[in-house]
Amino acid sequence: MVEPFILGIESSCDETAAAVLHGHKVLSNVIASQELVHKYYGGVVPELASRAHQQKIIPVVEEAIKQAGIVKKELNAIAFTRGPGLMGALLVGVSFTKGMSWALDIPMIEVNHMKAHILAHLIDDGSKALKFPFICLTVSGGHTQLVIVKSANIFELAGETLDDAAGEAFDKAAKALGLPYPGGPLIDQFAKVGNKQAFKFNLPLVTGYNYSFSGLKTSLVYFLDKHQKENPLFIEQHLNDICASYQNAIVNVLMRKLNQLIKDTGINQVAIAGGVSANSELRSAILDLEKKGCDVKIPQFSFCTDNAAMIAIAGLVKYKIGEFAPLSIGATARYSF
Ligand code: KG4
Ligand code: ZN
Repeated sequence: MVEPFILGIESSCDETAAAVLHGHKVLSNVIASQELVHKYYGGVVPELASRAHQQKIIPVVEEAIKQAGIVKKELNAIAFTRGPGLMGALLVGVSFTKGMSWALDIPMIEVNHMKAHILAHLIDDGSKALKFPFICLTVSGGHTQLVIVKSANIFELAGETLDDAAGEAFDKAAKALGLPYPGGPLIDQFAKVGNKQAFKFNLPLVTGYNYSFSGLKTSLVYFLDKHQKENPLFIEQHLNDICASYQNAIVNVLMRKLNQLIKDTGINQVAIAGGVSANSELRSAILDLEKKGCDVKIPQFSFCTDNAAMIAIAGLVKYKIGEFAPLSIGATARYSF
């Protein structure tokens, strides 16, 4: 089969992104972040996100095609995020894809954003490929999932968060600490020079492979309240240690369940995906698994956070089996496996 050119479009949350792939190779990967739009509000405002997507989608797609060094007519298909995500934001990508695929007379391919985070591992970035089956820990701002990936089309959800996602646990803690949105990267940065043994947070007790993070965040809020009553400068004076201790608690929770799943299934191919996989402590904990005999794959930073290359590669998987979407397709805010 001649490798197709696939345009990927991602608009599920606060990143307007487009990418062009030639087979498994990324020719362009353009992202217009809306971080500044939402920073003032301390989180993503859905209506503002939809409007920003509308403004940015045409220039972002044009730029992706230009950087790929091809012309529109060479595209073989357009893959788009159908869900999960913010409805208004998703609709911008879905509607745009419909118009463009109709105008170019090429098929469109609907993609599940969570599967795409996992399938980003199939992108040819020069690193070694994982063999199936592998376990993927997907940790993003909206989701935390432990998935057994049996093939590029068969996914088994082993566990997920019952409340907040790991990224939310970072972002909400950052807010409580007076840090701007998104707080995950900042906590990571302060934690690097902090002592992770300085403070203890109670780890959640959830059975099986499921996660829970809301209790951890609440225990941080109570902890800060208590100490600030005694010392109003507590956060300022201990920021690095608080970040290091709290981050360590999140990473411990994530790794415990992952280790359990590795042990129970005997699968020793492990990957991480999603925005939180950019976290340095989590990355080193995952890399430590190599010492236990696991084969580990950590995505390139640009494929960790929301991006359209992962949408295009997920599109390629379906393109190869001729699974195309009808023009009548809609977006879906909740889209499970
Ligand atoms: O996958 P993603 O880009 O978007 C969603 O689909 O949610 O993930 C965004 C999340 C945010 O919560 C952000 O704070 C978190 O990833 N994040 C991090 C780091 N970089 C991004 N969390 C911890 N440490 C980081 N270095
Ligand atoms: Zn995501």
